[in-house]
Amino acid sequence: MLHGRGVEENLTVGRVAELAGVTVRTLHHYDDIGLVRPSARTGAGYRAYAAGDVERLREVLAYRRLGFALREIADLVDDPATDTVAHLLRLRGLLLEQRDRAAAMVTAIDRELEARAMGIETTPEDQLKVFGAQLYEVIGSAYPATRRTEPRIAAQIWDALGDARTVLNVGAGTGSYEPPDRDVTAVEPSAVMRAQRPAGAAPCVAARAESLPFEDRSFDAAMAFSTVHHWQDPIAGLREMQRVARRVVVFTHDTTDSGWRHRFWLTRDYLPDVARLVAGRPSLDELADAIGARTQPVPIPWDCADGFLEAHWRRPEAYLEQHVRRAVSVWTRVGPKAEQRAVDSLRDDLSSGRWTDRNHHLTDLDTAELGLRLLVG
Ligand SMILES: C[S@@+](CC[C@H](N)C(=O)[O-])C[C@H]1O[C@@H](n2cnc3c(N)ncnc32)[C@H](O)[C@@H]1O
Repeated sequence: MLHGRGVEENLTVGRVAELAGVTVRTLHHYDDIGLVRPSARTGAGYRAYAAGDVERLREVLAYRRLGFALREIADLVDDPATDTVAHLLRLRGLLLEQRDRAAAMVTAIDRELEARAMGIETTPEDQLKVFGAQLYEVIGSAYPATRRTEPRIAAQIWDALGDARTVLNVGAGTGSYEPPDRDVTAVEPSAVMRAQRPAGAAPCVAARAESLPFEDRSFDAAMAFSTVHHWQDPIAGLREMQRVARRVVVFTHDTTDSGWRHRFWLTRDYLPDVARLVAGRPSLDELADAIGARTQPVPIPWDCADGFLEAHWRRPEAYLEQHVRRAVSVWTRVGPKAEQRAVDSLRDDLSSGRWTDRNHHLTDLDTAELGLRLLVG
């Protein structure tokens, strides 16, 4: 029931549990971990939920139902940049997405049941199509927990954009690194990512880099952050960016030389499996040549705010955290076995002191050169 006036009544823990369909134990747990606290008291002195607490609980329960972990939810609901309306819009988008996905699965299952009833065998390809979402439809909901604009890297990118007034952000995700002082248009193929763009973010078009729905030279500059390695045809995507914009700025990584895997202890000692992911992909030089770009190194600060793969190079314990790994596609792409092996082995080395023995030189560094590059063309 909507009230035109403020809701005066504070609700007891038992009443909230009843209304929300959760146990009192769950509410106590949320209280214990500081996620949602009943901040008021009833006339009889019992702890009670004020209107603001109920609002917060509603957001927590909705994110929970969408499959977010409590830790990620804490980051989401504590984000000062997101107000209640922004949360509602984001939740609405995610729920519609989930509904559409469930409807598509029901249709696929109905088709298979029909086929089986008629004695028709379905192929393995047909069976897997039900789950045939793109990678970011699967991992996208974990993304905002740790992925956000790192100001020092943003400064380097915005500087490279020069005096561009209109900027296209390709593979824009949730909108990190979009310059606040320019006229930005975003392109993002994943509906899950689009739904998580904050309210007030730049307008976002559902499209792929390889085929941008814009006229030639429509923008002063086009940027792409940490996305080129996901494109089916990176060279075609970069050429498209160059077609629609006068200047192109791309943040990516260098896997050109044979030593790249050894630059970073994570890939060198724990996750050599990434080599398989870059095999056959165009090298940094090929990408740069395709658009006549020059390359600039991007040093990664030790306390990098954006949780991409290399971000925690001086904070190794972070890689033991599920929510840190879930927001980085590499961990999903190497598969659960390689991931578990890497995490177990890192955990052992951290507790035995082996990691520190091998990497003590890093503790004195404020930034690291890990092969991250800007292409400016
Ligand atoms: C690691 S995320 C980076 C998102 C954002 N640029 C950021 O820095 O937070 C990679 C993004 O690339 C998008 N992507 C995947 N294939 C793409 C394609 N062919 N064209 C454009 N974007 C693509 C994914 O959906 C995902 O949102």
